[in-house]
Parts: sequence; structure tokens; C-alpha cells
Amino acid sequence: MAHSHLLDLAQRPRRLRRTASLRAMVEETVLRPADFIAPLFVVDGKAPPDEIASMPGVFRLNVADLVQECRALHKLGVPAVALFPKLDPKLKDEEGTQALNEDTLVLRAVRAVKRAVPALTVITDVALDPYTSHGHDGVLNAARDDVENDRTVEILSRMAVLQARAGVDLVAPSDMMDGRVGAIRRALDAAGFSGTGILAYAAKYNSAYYGPFRDAVGSAQAAGTRLLSKATYQMNPANRREAVTEVLLDDAEGADILMVKPAGLYLDIIREVRNATRKPVAAYQISGEYAQIQAAARLGWLDLARCRHESLLAIKRAGADLILTYFAKEMARALK
Ligand code: PBG
Repeated sequence: MAHSHLLDLAQRPRRLRRTASLRAMVEETVLRPADFIAPLFVVDGKAPPDEIASMPGVFRLNVADLVQECRALHKLGVPAVALFPKLDPKLKDEEGTQALNEDTLVLRAVRAVKRAVPALTVITDVALDPYTSHGHDGVLNAARDDVENDRTVEILSRMAVLQARAGVDLVAPSDMMDGRVGAIRRALDAAGFSGTGILAYAAKYNSAYYGPFRDAVGSAQAAGTRLLSKATYQMNPANRREAVTEVLLDDAEGADILMVKPAGLYLDIIREVRNATRKPVAAYQISGEYAQIQAAARLGWLDLARCRHESLLAIKRAGADLILTYFAKEMARALK
């Protein structure tokens, strides 16, 4: 007997795992810098980078530092950034009026980034939460117990036009109001921005894992609670079929890219969405997913580089073509 070969097996899947070369040959999913979109937080003023306590390694940047960061990301092969403003609380009000100020922080940031790094794709959020004193994504009804859909959509459409005028490549409605993708598409076209795309947060869940982000933009403090409930507009985490309904609506209304959020806890949804549309699918590895990995790594309980890679590989394997992740820069560096 040549070898210890006790079982008479025709199929031995381990054959293709025997060497590094064989493993590489049959690898199904490969991450590359062009898969990532870096979410970045911007603040007014000239203060040095301010680290977000619950997101180690993520900073609120002034506009000049933001531009430097965008240059660095572009050099590393990261194709896009998604910008989020953290407003001075004094500028927030019930209606989020600063969202419609042509000179509001995020629009100044967009213009500066586009001037300095024109080849970088710039994405901005269309939602009122950084601007409202209550921290909701839209304006409240008379009873102040819910966000008013149609009046919010009207404001978001105007907001999207301002963002297009400032030069963004993609607007990203993250508010989950009904009908907003169609309304934004019509408003952009009417204003002459038929080339500006829509990255729709199509299936966005009412997740507890947004906590660190709400610290970062101050929408939790605005509401006076970290438990701000967005349950009347964001999706119930219990639902899967409903994600397909939401995604097909945004697809039909003219979204160019369809996003699932969060990502790592919603891999079944990413796959469902991948199967439901032919358009590109994005997924957002959100602040709480990032914070979990960072926290465990800091405790010495998980290996940061390997968990970072595996968490993103899983999201891509599930069907995401693009991933928003706070690890974008480190991943691009690691993959070089
Ligand atoms: C809100 C918005 C949120 C995120 C992006 N846009 C949070 C929320 O819905 O409260 C979360 C991103 C993250 O947690 O990383 N329009």
C-alpha cells in the first residue's frame, strides 16, 4: 500500500487546499481597493483631527485635512468617499434648515475635494439627521410623534439638487422615506443633473449598531438619547421579503446602485438583493460592526487584520459589488 489511504474516496475536496498555489487558483472571491468606499466625517473650523471615541482610528476632519485624506485614499486606489458632516449643534433646528443652505459645511467640503482630487468619486448622504435638533432623518408631523413622509421628500429633493450642483457624483438617500428615489431623480433631471447618480440606501434596517455613527455626527446627543427610534421608517430587522419589496421600488424609481445596510449581520439580505436586481449592489459595514472588531482586537481577543479582511470578504461573497467601510484605507494599504 502506497499511502495511508484507508477510505475509498473518489472525492477529496482537500486536494485543492493542499498548497498555497492550488488554493489561490480556486479562490472564488478576491478583495481589491476598488471595492471600497470610505465614509468620512467632516467638521467646520481648523481643529486637528478629533478621534471618535467609539470608532478608534476614525476622525472628524476639518475641510483641509479631509482633502489630504481624500488625496491619500485616491493614491491607494480607493475610488470613492462618502461624506458626513458633523454640524455645530447651534446650527441645528426642528426643520433641519441648514440642509438647504448652499454654503453648508458638507457642500463646501464637496467643492474642496472635487477641486483637489477631481478623479475621486464623491458621495453625499441625503437625509436630515445631521441637521435636525431631534436627530431624525426628516421633519416631524404636527403631533411631533413621527416623521412626515411627503414633506420630507420635498426637502430631500432640493437637498439632492444642491449636492449635485456642488459636484457630487452620486447622491445617497439614507432616509427611507417612501418615494424619495423617484422624486430625487425627477428633481435632478429637472435641474439639469441627469448625469448625477443615485446610490439608494434601499434596504436600511432599524439597527442598534448605528450607535457610534450617531456619536460621530451628534444626532444621538441632539435627540438627548442614544436610543432614538427610527422604527417608523427604517426596516424591521426581522424582515427579509420586505427588503426585496424596498429594493425593487428603488430600482424602478431610478436608483443606479442599491444598498443594504448594515452589512455583516444582513448577509442573507445582500444575497436576496443580489438575486432580485441586475444593478450593482452596495453594502454598508456600519459603525457598530467596525466598533465590535476594533474593541475585540484591543482586548487581544481577535486578530484585527484577519477579522477585518474576513468580515469584508464575507460581505463581498454574499453578493456586494461595493462596500462602504471604515476600514477602506487600511484595507487598500494591506492589499497593495
Ligand atoms: C442616517 C445615517 C446613519 C448612518 C448613515 N446615515 C445612521 C442612522 O440611520 O441613524 C449609519 C452609518 C453607520 O452606523 O456607520 N441618515
